[in-house]
Amino acid sequence: MKNLIILGAQWGDEGKGKVVDLFSDKFDIVARYQGGHNAGHTVYIGERKFVLKLIPSGILRPGVRAVIGNGVVIDPGALIDEITMLEAAGIDVTRQLAISNRAQIIFPFHRMVEKVSEARKGRIAIGTTSRGIGPCYEDKIGRRGMRVADLLDATIFESIYPALAEDKTTLARAFEVHEEVDFARVREQYLVYAERIRPMVCDTASMLNRAIAGGQRVLFEGAQGTMLDIDHGTYPFVTSSSATAGGACTGTGVPPTKIQGVIGVSKAYITRVGGGPFPSEVFGEDGDRIRKAGNEFGSVTGRPRRCGWFDVPLLRYTSRINGFDSLIITKLDVLDGLPEIPVLTGYRVQGELTDDMPATVTGLEAIEPVYERLPGWTGNTRGLKDHALLPPQAKDYLAFLAERVGVEVGCISTGPERNETIVLPGSRLASLL
Ligand code: IMP
Repeated sequence: MKNLIILGAQWGDEGKGKVVDLFSDKFDIVARYQGGHNAGHTVYIGERKFVLKLIPSGILRPGVRAVIGNGVVIDPGALIDEITMLEAAGIDVTRQLAISNRAQIIFPFHRMVEKVSEARKGRIAIGTTSRGIGPCYEDKIGRRGMRVADLLDATIFESIYPALAEDKTTLARAFEVHEEVDFARVREQYLVYAERIRPMVCDTASMLNRAIAGGQRVLFEGAQGTMLDIDHGTYPFVTSSSATAGGACTGTGVPPTKIQGVIGVSKAYITRVGGGPFPSEVFGEDGDRIRKAGNEFGSVTGRPRRCGWFDVPLLRYTSRINGFDSLIITKLDVLDGLPEIPVLTGYRVQGELTDDMPATVTGLEAIEPVYERLPGWTGNTRGLKDHALLPPQAKDYLAFLAERVGVEVGCISTGPERNETIVLPGSRLASLL
């Protein structure tokens, strides 16, 4: 039984939600392992559009169980909104969703603290999603956070909450962030949230390992993308969790020996939201064209995404970190009609070509990108379901990416619908599914 990880190979927003939703009918369980409601997965089913932030998109398949693992940070208000939206669409969330008793809880004061880091003079503004993600992970690593199990136990809640809340007021005052948080109201509200989620809370690590031992298949769904990983991304312009394949183990409690494959998802070009280095960024008209054709606006914050050309060294790096067995290339159709397509094929640093990713922002900004130009195509690839029907130049483009990155392209997504997808027969991906 093959258990797989699917995760972003760039800076997030690669279209993972759609492919996870598509493949989830081959799995019994889909598990999220990091991040929080900073992620946004948009899934179209017929006329219906679902934007999921915390709950894995597997929930949209009747019978598939969705798991929010221990590595996730949960804003219970946001989670309950999502549960309510899914229930209104007729989904039996209480039966399908399992929430880890070890996941961390986000409070409104985490958002307040985030403003300290983002607005303070002399600090680097990361351009976060303002959801309190970073400060919640800070409390986790600082060993003072509140976990789901603590939220559900009124006595433990009372023993943790006052100090946690007080710390935040002190911090905010020290940094001259003046925002009123009614801590007593928050406490009451969270105890109500606790009762709403209680039926879905369990030891998900135990549940997942039992399911695997019983022959069930698990799909691990990464949020954000490798270049936003706290260790391996473009630090400090990263999120605060382990968005790489390794995060699937720490974030769910399933050991690496129980996972058989890792699939990377990448756009046919690249985007990033928020600040930070971006070697293949395209400005002006070319950037606007990609943004418009790809509708590159954040599904959570609505912010315009920065756009750029496919970056081979970046994909080689993220492939090394994650050990990709196969790549899924999404949004190929956005490149339709371009006379030629630049591809960033080399990083030159101080005159030398390198296969390494600089560790500092200064180093990343010093990269001189080396481009090659590939012929574009005139045909329309939108919605194609057969590889044979792709224009020859589009096939060549994909073959070029696979050859340069050193990983097969096992699947191509040609539109937002489930069936607008081509899985290449004979690919490693096909054998893993
Ligand atoms: P945070 O995760 O809100 O702390 O934001 C840190 C950085 O990660 C910012 O640059 C965000 O724009 C980026 N980020 C967080 N979540 C996503 C996502 O789901 N897609 C793309 N970028 C994201």
